Amino acid sequence: MKKVYIETYGCQMNVADTEIIFSILSRHGWERCESIEEADAVMANTCSIRDNAEQRILGRIDQFVLQRQSRPVIIGILGCMAERMKEKLLDTGKVDIVAGPDTYRRLPELLEAAADGHPQIDVMLSREETYADIAPVRIDRNGVSAFISIMRGCNNVCSYCVVPYTRGAERSRDAHTIVREACDCFAKGYREVTLLGQNVDSYNWEGISFAQLLAMVAEVNPLLRVRFSTSNPQDISDAVIQTMARYPNICHHIHLPVQSGSDRILEKMRRRYTRAWYLERVAKIRELIPDCAISTDVIAGFCSETLEDHADTLSLFEQVGFDAAYMFYYSERPGTLAARKYPDDVPIEEKTRRLNEIISLQNRLSLESNRRDVGKVFEVLVEGPSKKTDRDLCGRTGTNKMCVWTDSVHKSGDYVKVKVLDCTQATLLCQLI
Ligand code: SAH
Ligand code: SF4
Ligand code: F3S
Repeated sequence: MKKVYIETYGCQMNVADTEIIFSILSRHGWERCESIEEADAVMANTCSIRDNAEQRILGRIDQFVLQRQSRPVIIGILGCMAERMKEKLLDTGKVDIVAGPDTYRRLPELLEAAADGHPQIDVMLSREETYADIAPVRIDRNGVSAFISIMRGCNNVCSYCVVPYTRGAERSRDAHTIVREACDCFAKGYREVTLLGQNVDSYNWEGISFAQLLAMVAEVNPLLRVRFSTSNPQDISDAVIQTMARYPNICHHIHLPVQSGSDRILEKMRRRYTRAWYLERVAKIRELIPDCAISTDVIAGFCSETLEDHADTLSLFEQVGFDAAYMFYYSERPGTLAARKYPDDVPIEEKTRRLNEIISLQNRLSLESNRRDVGKVFEVLVEGPSKKTDRDLCGRTGTNKMCVWTDSVHKSGDYVKVKVLDCTQATLLCQLI
C-alpha cells in the first residue's frame, strides 16, 4: 500500500471532504498516514477565504518541497485554493497535482499520472457532484461527533466572498443517502452529527426541504444529537425553528452569521437582509426556543465602513448578546464583486482596531452568557478526557458550550447530567450529578 498524508485547512466542509478523499483513495491502494516523512503523497486540502489563510498554506508548500529533495514524493493541492489559483499553482514548479473540490473521484488517476512525472490539474466544477454514494473514512476527532455534508457550492453572491467561485453552484445531496450516513454514524458509536452546507436553509432535494431533512435525521435515533451549519439569516424559516423545537435531540444552537450591523454595509455586502430582519429572526428563535444559543460571524472594516457603521455592529452585538462569534477583518479576495467594484479603503490598522473592539465586546458577552448558566443543570455528551487533567472529562451542552467536570465513571459517547458551578469565558466548570 502507498501512503498518503493530508493536511486540512479551512471550514468543516473541508474536513468532510478530506474524509471523502480518504475513502476514494483507500479503494485505490492508498492508506492514510500521520506524518509527511512516511508519505508517498503529501496533500493540502486548502482554503481561500482570507489572504492570511492562503499565505499560511503557501508557506507550508515550501516545507513539503523540502521532503522532495531526499526522495520522490507527490505534492498535491486540493480544495478552494486549487480552484482559485488553478495553473498558477502548477507554474510555481512546487506542486504535482492541482485538484478542485469537484474532482476528487479522479484523484487516483491523477496520482498515477503524476507519479510518472507529469504534473496534473483538474479544476472542473460540477453542477451535480455531491459524493452522495461515498462513505467517508472518518478522521477520528473524538469518535463521538461526525460531519455530514448535505449540499455543496453556494448560489449567493455576497460581494466579499470567494466561496461561490471556489465551490461552484449550489446542489443538494440525495436525502436518503444523508439519512443512511447518519444511521451508519450511530451504528459506529457516533452520538452527534453536524449537517453541513454553506446555506443549509436552501437545501432542496426532490422537494424535501431542510426542515424536513432535519426531522428525518432527528428520527434516526433519539440518542443521536443533530447540529447544523450554516444558516443564512435571509433564509432561515419558521419551519426549521419549529422542527428544532419539536425534536429534543436537535441541539438548541443556531450559527447565524450577521457580518455587519449596518444596513448600508449589509447592502454593499449583498447580504439580502437588514438589521431589522436579522433582529426579527433572532426574536422568532427566542420565542420558539427560549434557551437557544445564537452564534455569529462578523467582518470588521469592509469597504467604505465608517465609524458609524462600526458602531452599528457593536450595538447589534450588544442587542443580541451573542453566545459566541467568529470575528474577522475584511480581506479583499481577487475576482469577487467587492474587489472589482469597491476600494478596500479602511486602513489595516483601523481594521485591526475595530476588530479588537468587537473581540473585547464579544469576550464580555461570552462571559455574561456563561454566567447566566451558573446554577443550571445540563445534559452533556461526553467527548473525552479534558485537556488539563486526566481526572476530568469534557463535553458540550446542546447550546454548544464546553463543560469540564471531574468524573472517573463515564466515557466518550455517554450522556451525563452536570450542574454548572462556575465559569470562564470559554468553559462551564461543572459537577456531575
Ligand atoms: N456560508 C457562510 C459563511 C462561509 S465563510 C455564510 O454565508 O454565513 C465563513 C465566514 O468567513 C463568513 O461568514 C465571513 O464572516 C468570513 N469571510 C468570508 N469572506 C471573507 C473576507 N473576504 N474577508 C474576511 N472574512 C470573510
Ligand atoms: Fe459566501 Fe455568502 Fe455563500 Fe456564505 S452565503 S458562502 S458568505 S457567498
Ligand atoms: Fe475556506 Fe473553501 Fe471553506 S474558501 S472556508 S475551505 S469553502
